[in-house]
Amino acid sequence: MSGRFITFEGIDGAGKSTHIERVARHLRQGGAELVQTREPGGTPLAESLRELFLHRDMDGLTEALLVFAARRDHVRNVIAPALAQGHTVLCDRFTDASFAYQGGGRGMDWQVLGTLERWVQEGREPDLTFWFDVDPAVAAQRRAQARDADRLEQLDLAFFERVRDAYRRRAEGSPTRFVRIDAGDTIEGVGAQVIAALEQRGW
Ligand code: TYD
Repeated sequence: MSGRFITFEGIDGAGKSTHIERVARHLRQGGAELVQTREPGGTPLAESLRELFLHRDMDGLTEALLVFAARRDHVRNVIAPALAQGHTVLCDRFTDASFAYQGGGRGMDWQVLGTLERWVQEGREPDLTFWFDVDPAVAAQRRAQARDADRLEQLDLAFFERVRDAYRRRAEGSPTRFVRIDAGDTIEGVGAQVIAALEQRGW
């Protein structure tokens, strides 16, 4: 029996990290065996690629090739084996982030990304994707309060508007997989939306 694959997406500052923990608690209480992971990253090789990705300057195609290389290693060595054992995998960002950031943000060709997606995932797709959607101006305020910005978080509002539009396009393309969460709500409100989506599926 294959386990469930759940991903978490949204622009930087949307607040998804807090809610991944909430989802983990909820599913554990229901008896699920969880694997919590993130992208880029999740294996030693992919974490090394993450460091390069976050801190070196590069063009959009190089970014895409790096994140998909990291994803390939992650899918083969962590995600697919965990799902095959019936575990639930919670992944902080996945391929939708590549369409959003490299496609929307950097202007990478959507079809090229689609080809990389097919090669790397070999038909494997998340069962559920939470999209934490928030106004980029609100997200920027939250980031400014929270911490030092990494390379991508320093980009301007227009960049994050494009990222958001690309998430919207991905959500429209896969309406049953995606659940849009209004991440402009309070922490409690966002948490309630997330848990409601899980309960609706009987999870
Ligand atoms: P993020 O997951 O937000 O980590 P943290 O919360 O520790 O900052 O950071 C990852 C960054 O990488 C984020 O800015 C989005 C970006 N990213 C891409 O551009 N493409 C991708 O395919 C992925 C997975 C992430």
